[in-house]
Amino acid sequence: MENFEFQNPTKIIFGRGTEEKVGHEVAKYSTNILLHYGGGSIKASGLYERVTASLKAAGVDWIELAGVKPNPRLSLVQEGIKLCKQHKLGLILAVGGGSVIDSAKAIAMGSVIEGDVWDFYLGRGAPVDALPVATVLTIPAAGSESSTGTVITNEEGWLKRAVNSDLIYPRFSILNPELAFTLPAFQVACGIADIMSHLMERYFTNVSHVSFTDHLLEATMKTIIGQAPFVLKTPNDYDAWAEIMWAGTIAHNNLLNTGRVGDWASHDIEHEISGIYDVAHGAGLAVVFPAWMKHVLQHDLNRFVQWAVRVWNVEMDVYNPEAVALIGIHKLEEFFHSIGLGTELSDLGIQGDRIDEMANKATDGDTRTLGNFVKLNEKAVRKILHLAE
Ligand code: NZQ
Ligand code: ZN
Repeated sequence: MENFEFQNPTKIIFGRGTEEKVGHEVAKYSTNILLHYGGGSIKASGLYERVTASLKAAGVDWIELAGVKPNPRLSLVQEGIKLCKQHKLGLILAVGGGSVIDSAKAIAMGSVIEGDVWDFYLGRGAPVDALPVATVLTIPAAGSESSTGTVITNEEGWLKRAVNSDLIYPRFSILNPELAFTLPAFQVACGIADIMSHLMERYFTNVSHVSFTDHLLEATMKTIIGQAPFVLKTPNDYDAWAEIMWAGTIAHNNLLNTGRVGDWASHDIEHEISGIYDVAHGAGLAVVFPAWMKHVLQHDLNRFVQWAVRVWNVEMDVYNPEAVALIGIHKLEEFFHSIGLGTELSDLGIQGDRIDEMANKATDGDTRTLGNFVKLNEKAVRKILHLAE
């Protein structure tokens, strides 16, 4: 196991009706805030009314910035930064999914600097301060509700890039599983694929003697696999949503990464796909992950065998470990199909004609490698994308 430091400062407020507490919690930080949300689901569900009533009751004033799109755009972030500076706002409240939360985090970093927040996404400098961010989560998926990450798409060049900083951990996140009842089945599936991917990115590591976190990761994967059919069949199954929502947060709050080094190549490759084609992140991961696995399988066959046996209940065959591992990958593909996701680029409506471009962008023109489990150069990324065709 590697040395590590672990602290996740996000206060989690979990359960039925918890959005009623948002005003009280926000007022601890500021009574003059930016209320940030997406394309209208929170108005259709009645959540907007409940959140604003709670803010009013706590004496919190707000300015609204709606219209965050999935794969959130830099241009709206710039608008939010202007509003925060102009009105001297003291907190950004994100009500929505990973896209709204990531956009809020970008605004939080950009509102306290003179320069361009996009520089951070290009790796030019790191934030030293940020406004506080808080969230009311409406979809278990990205894990942004208690992560250090923000992923933004710059429409100029369609580059999708991430920043990680301890400064943008949300101060608190309200997790009410009831808020997921209104999700369309496709978004449910994308969220599930993303959560599974956050677990698998961490699972495939070169660090040895990480048995404790191996088991935690396996248990979390099994929880997601076990509960997914329930929420897809019965969208208002509170108990199943509660399991998925909490597991989804734990999957990405870095507890399960303690003492190990995750891979993250599949995420980097997927960000090129959703950056260029604007597909849902989870749908892209369902295509990339199985292909990545087939490409790196031989690097540590034992780890794949362990995963297949423990997570997918594949029968052990000591004489043919490769077959065991391949059955595990096949079961993952079957799982994605069972929740309504495709596992080939063509399922996303993507032909192979821009594979070279994606591989080139992902590796900055073959000047950097992706991943830690196996380091991938441009050629390897190209190969994985062709495997996904
Ligand atoms: O915009 P609205 O109308 O709210 O609709 C959204 C959106 O269309 C809808 N939705 C959300 N909650 C709903 C709902 N519809 C009905 N009822 C509800 N309760 O769902 C759609 C997708 O929302 P989005 O926020 O885009 O989903 P998700 O949470 O999957 O976020 C995806 C983004 O997060 C990034 C991804 O790259 C992607 O841009 N990620 C962020 C990470 C982080 N910050 O740590 C890590 C992840 O790996 C990921 O990269
Ligand atoms: Zn993800």
